[in-house]
Amino acid sequence: MTTLDTPVLTIDGPSGSGKGTISRLVARKLGWHYLDSGALYRAVGVAAGWGDIDLADPAALVRCTFDTEIGFRDEGDELRVLVNGQDATDELRTETAGAAASAIAAIPEVRAALKDRQRAFRQPPGLVADGRDMGTVIFPDAAHKVFLTASAEERAERRYKQLNDKGVPVTLAGLLREILARDARDASRAVAPLRPAEDAVRIDTTGLGIDEVVDRVLALMPARPVGPGA
Ligand code: C5P
Repeated sequence: MTTLDTPVLTIDGPSGSGKGTISRLVARKLGWHYLDSGALYRAVGVAAGWGDIDLADPAALVRCTFDTEIGFRDEGDELRVLVNGQDATDELRTETAGAAASAIAAIPEVRAALKDRQRAFRQPPGLVADGRDMGTVIFPDAAHKVFLTASAEERAERRYKQLNDKGVPVTLAGLLREILARDARDASRAVAPLRPAEDAVRIDTTGLGIDEVVDRVLALMPARPVGPGA
C-alpha cells in the first residue's frame, strides 16, 4: 500500500465540537494513526511564547514554525506533545496557547510550512485527521469526511467542565466569548477558513454523548479495514 492509497478519515469542526475526543476514539477503534493538527499550531504558539516572539510579527513566526521540533508520544490514554524535546502537553491546552495558535494559523506561510508535516502522518493502515481544514486543504482526496458541530453554548459548557475539573479558574461567560471570537477568526480568515468540505457529512453533536457520536462516525465507514491474517 503506498502512502496515497492509505485511507484517510478527516474530522473537522470548531473548537469544542468534540473533535479531539471523537477522533482519538475512532482512530483507536479502527487501529489507524491519529493526527491532532491543532496541536501543531498550538506547539508553534507555545514555542513562540518561549522565544518571546511577538504574535504580530509574521516573519518571526514563520521562522519559529520552521525551527520548532514537534513530536508526539502515545501513552495509551493520552497523547503527549513534545515541543523542542520538552513535554508541553499541559501548556498546549491552555486558552493562551489556543488563542496564540489561532492568531498564528491565520498566516499563510505558517500553514504552508506545516502542510508536509501533516501529510506525513498518512501511513498505513489509515489515518484519522482532526482539525479545521483536513477535508478541504490537507487531505482533499480523503475518502471519508466528517464535519462536527455543536451549539456555541454547549461547546462553552463542555470546555468549562473540562477546565473546572482540572481546577483552572474560568467563567462560563468568558469561555463563551472566547469561543465565539475564535470561531469568527477561524471562519473569516483569508486562508483555509473553517468550513465543511462539500463532500463532508455534518454531525451536530449538541445533546449527544461521546459513544453516540463515535458510532455515527464509524457507521459512515463502508467497511472496517481488515488486519493482516484476519
Ligand atoms: O483544534 P485546536 O483548538 O487545538 O486548534 C487551535 C487553533 O489552531 C484553532 O483555533 C485554529 O485557529 C488553528 N487550527 C487551524 N487549522 C487546523 C487546526 C487548528 O487553523 N487544521
